[in-house]
This record gives sequence, structure tokens and C-alpha cells, in this order.
Amino acid sequence: MNIFFKLYSRIYQKILYLSMFFLPFNEPIVYRGEHSISNIPSILKKNGISKIMIVTDANLVKIPYFAKILQEIQSNNIEYVMYDLTKPNPTISQIEDAFKLFVNTNSNGLLAIGGGSSIDLAKGIGVKLTHPNKKIQQMRGLLKVLKKLPLLIAIPSTAGTGSEATVACVVTDELTKEKYAINDPVLIPKYAILDPLITVGLPFSLTSTTGMDALTHAVEAYIGHSNTKKTKRMAISAIKTIFGNLEEACINPTNINARMNMLNASYEAGVAFTRAYVGNVHALAHQLGGVYHIPHGLANAILLPVVLRYYNHATDKKLSMLYDAVYKDNTLDTISAKSEGFIDKIFELNQRMNIPAKIKIDATDDDIFLMASRAFLEANPLYPVPTMFDILDFVNIYNMIIEKNKSN
Ligand SMILES: [Fe+2]
Repeated sequence: MNIFFKLYSRIYQKILYLSMFFLPFNEPIVYRGEHSISNIPSILKKNGISKIMIVTDANLVKIPYFAKILQEIQSNNIEYVMYDLTKPNPTISQIEDAFKLFVNTNSNGLLAIGGGSSIDLAKGIGVKLTHPNKKIQQMRGLLKVLKKLPLLIAIPSTAGTGSEATVACVVTDELTKEKYAINDPVLIPKYAILDPLITVGLPFSLTSTTGMDALTHAVEAYIGHSNTKKTKRMAISAIKTIFGNLEEACINPTNINARMNMLNASYEAGVAFTRAYVGNVHALAHQLGGVYHIPHGLANAILLPVVLRYYNHATDKKLSMLYDAVYKDNTLDTISAKSEGFIDKIFELNQRMNIPAKIKIDATDDDIFLMASRAFLEANPLYPVPTMFDILDFVNIYNMIIEKNKSN
């Protein structure tokens, strides 16, 4: 990598890190626990909401607990409008459609119920409301919104994306097949409701992969260069909780305790990464989502241990500390053995949860190069990663985890 670009990137990251201390990273007001959805009416009344727009997806509206949420709203004589067309990886046209619905129905608040896609779609509506004459594409990047959004309440139905705690709204441009983020502290929801009862019906594979997304947030935040004391504490806590609860939540989906712990971990990982950033794993995963619609959590789960090993001992000290935090055994006694041990534990966790080691896609060398180029642009100069990767590094990693169609 060009030494001047590297130097420029590191200075850019440092300036950004220092300037973030002056930005309002307000955490959401959090309600936790079973039936915490019962707080919705009082939140709406307190914030003067006469008509709330619910942003969700078609599968979630079918679960019995969703009817309970509607009941809470209806029984308090609050009007609502429903947008339930959210698809995984929300697109710009979906945001535009939902924005029109919000305006045409005179709604004055947003209630996002769902995974990261619904929460990000609701954030996208907020972005459009603050800048109705701008295209979503123009809002890409850092600190472009800068205006207060209408009330946004987030109820995550998966324990993974952490979007209920973050500055990020990740959108997919359906024309260019790019997936990118709009980042601004005004996008942090005002309220987050972590109710485990909404996650009990989540199937095994979604529980496992979204949980691995949360683990990736915490690990990437922790090994990056832009940590604060708080983000380190949050990341370690999230990582310990995920190793202790994710499998249990997959195997016994009605274990409310494990579900609640995973929601807490996902939230903590969200708080950590929204300040300390993600890294190369996410840069790689976003392109697989944008071009091949690979679910975000699955891509991260597969990539995380591979990228950590690719760092080639540059992260040994931090990974050894994570090993010590999660596993209090003394069988490994060197920093590099513990670091390797931590990576092995991720591979093993994936294996036990039936997450494959590779992704089967019909990708040509040109496709991989295009994704690698975009991953490079996403990661650099923004992400304060332990080691900056060249395009060829990204190509190498894609080749390690993609099982190509034999015809290519
Ligand atoms: Fe993520």
C-alpha cells in the first residue's frame, strides 16, 4: 500500500476519533425485559405522537406477539399506519415509497419493529424527512443529515445488528448494487425496546447468524484503533455474553433468559461499534450483501475468523485479552496461543451452529475484483482497522471463502 495513502488514512482516522468526542452520541432510552412493549403507549403520548408509522416486514406481522404490540397501540386510541414491505437489505426505492406513505398519511413518528433492515429503513425515512429534496445517494457518508429526526422507536426482533443503538443507516442502491451507510448521530433512535418475547420465534439459522453479526461488531470495535474505555468495556461484555448464550438461544429458542442476554449483547456491541467503528470484515460482507444478497450475519460469521487469521498476529495482544475474558483457563500461556485459541473458538462456534465455512456463489474473477475494490473503498480511509488491506488482500480473502461455480 502506498505509504502516503496509509499515513493520510491514519491521520484522518485520528482526527475523526478526536472530533467524535464533541458529537452528541446520545444512547437511546432503553426499556428491557418481557412485555417491555407495554411502554409504547406512554412513550408515544409523552412525545405528542398522534399517528405512528410502523415500519416492519411481512413475516413479522404474522407472529402472535406482533398483534399484542398493535393491541397496545389501539387500546390507547393512538392511530397507526403500517409499512410492512421491508425486505432484507433495504433499497433506496423502498425508502422513497415508505417516505411518501409517511407524508401522505400525516404520520408524525416512526416505530421500527424488526431486524436491522426495518430499523435502517425507518432511519432512511427520517433522513428523507429532514432532506426531502435530496436523494438518498447524496446522504451517503458521514454527518450529512445534521437535523433532528421525528421520534424514532426501535424494537429489534433479532439480536444482531445493534441498529437500535447506532448512528448507521445501511442502504442498498439497487442500480449500482452497492451497499453503503449514512452515518450521523441524529440517526440513533430515541428509544430502544429490548423485549425478548419478540425474538423467541426466530429460527435457528437466523438466531445464529444475526448473533454472529453482533459478535463481529464487538470484535471489530475492540481490535480497532478508535476505542474508548466505554467501547472496550461494552465490547468485552458483549463478547462474553455471546459466547455464553448464543448457542443456547439457538438450541432452546424459548429460553427467555438466553434471548434477553443476546438482546443485551447485541445492544452493547451496537454502542461499541457505533463509536469505535467496524472494520475489514464488514467491508467485505457488505459487498457480498450488495451484489449477491448474502445475508449480512452469515457473511460476517464466515469472514470473521478468516480475517482475524489473515491479520497474521497483528491483533494477537487484543485477541489474547478477549480469550482471557471469555475463557478463564490457563491451558494456553502465550499471547499468540491465546489469540489463535480465540480464533479457533469462533471457527468451532460456527461449526457447532452449522454455519458453513464457505459461500457458494457464481462469482467470476472480475466479480471478485469489483467487490474487492469496493471493500477497499469502504474500509479506507474510514475504518481504524488493525492492518489496512490492499485490494489484493480483499481479493485473497474473497477467494478463501468463496466456493466458485466450476464453470468459471
Ligand atoms: Fe453488522
